[in-house]
Amino acid sequence: MANTLLILPGDGIGPEVMAEVRKVIDWFGKKRGLVFDVSEDLVGGAAYDAHGTPLTDATMARAQEVDAVLLGAVGGPKWDSLPFEVKPERGLLRLRKEMDLYANLRPARCFDALADFSSLKREVVAGLDIMIVRELTGGVYFGEPRGIFREGNERVGINTQRYTESEIARVARSAFELARRRQNRVCSMEKANVMESGVLWREVVQQVHDAEYPDVELSDMYADAGAMQLTRWPKQFDVIVTDNLFGDLLSDLAAMLTGSLGMLPSASLGAPMGNGRPKALYEPVHGSAPDIAGQGRANPIACILSFGMALRYSFDQGTEADRLETAIEKVLASGARTADLMGPEGGTPLSTAQMGDAILKALDETL
Ligand code: NAD
Ligand code: IPM
Ligand code: MN
Repeated sequence: MANTLLILPGDGIGPEVMAEVRKVIDWFGKKRGLVFDVSEDLVGGAAYDAHGTPLTDATMARAQEVDAVLLGAVGGPKWDSLPFEVKPERGLLRLRKEMDLYANLRPARCFDALADFSSLKREVVAGLDIMIVRELTGGVYFGEPRGIFREGNERVGINTQRYTESEIARVARSAFELARRRQNRVCSMEKANVMESGVLWREVVQQVHDAEYPDVELSDMYADAGAMQLTRWPKQFDVIVTDNLFGDLLSDLAAMLTGSLGMLPSASLGAPMGNGRPKALYEPVHGSAPDIAGQGRANPIACILSFGMALRYSFDQGTEADRLETAIEKVLASGARTADLMGPEGGTPLSTAQMGDAILKALDETL
């Protein structure tokens, strides 16, 4: 069975980090016989510039057909003042919504070599390995009514937090399934103290637990307290399951536990397709980083690790994903650093391409 991959590099540093992922994909083809049928297309501002829309219907259709989509990043100042419907971010949100990618897995793992680099103390982050499962197709990102409306002599901006029981139940199942393969613990985060959607969230997660996953340890926390606990003692968590907006915030926070936003990959998964593989889009947690775009300074590791997640979750190649993670661990242990992983005392950082090459070399050494 051919493994089909659609690559959408996007904007800003997206194409820069994706170029390094292409090298890694080629390496697995040449050295491990894992051949991918790769196609590439536009998304975000790049698609808007070419077609007047951040995602064409043809690209959307292609994304629905392939085994996995790999996305770099979208957005940037050039497109910030566009009408809302054609902003680059809408392209990404359309992919998530139409592919029904409801479970966004955002693992935060602190590589030992970076434990001293985190803004938190070494003992707080060393050995950290947590998984945030962010609901990705519902909540305030998509709820209706939404918009900016006139009310008397002023305007009002409205977004609606909305969750159905089935939307909550399916992402809860994803979290419980993952926990069973990890430390068997799930912490659910919402604000049941102030939001009805949070009350329902808490109830449904508990029901799914009691009926289907009584063996998994379940706890819950208000999301604000969860943010505090994540910085106080993150190792208390195994799997965190939370809604779309809280998950967005908490995963950026978790990124800094690992040293840099340039380190955090993600997998956005939907229901299984006919071939048993989940609908899937893989993307780094970071954005298009306009402040460093075009300078060859971006850290490609988050995007490369996102391809690693594709190996694991779409292509059933867990051993090869482990190989890739080990190679990255070795490169970091050797002291190789992109600029985002360096403190004020400095040193000479590796460029994006040099980091990619160092990872290829470390991959060679795993053979
Ligand atoms: P950002 O993640 O792009 O950047 C935040 C900071 O982290 C910047 O200082 C940046 O230089 C740094 N950074 C991020 N990734 C890095 C990497 N790989 N290597 C080194 N440094 C890195 O977030 P932002 O500045 O808030 O947003 C910029 C644009 O990206 C906006 O248009 C936003 O909407 C978009 N965005 C897109 C995605 C996505 O495509 N998935 C995610 C987040 C933000
Ligand atoms: C992310 C980003 C996106 C989000 C934006 C770019 C739509 O911040 O993937 O974390 O808010 O989900
Ligand atoms: Mn985000």
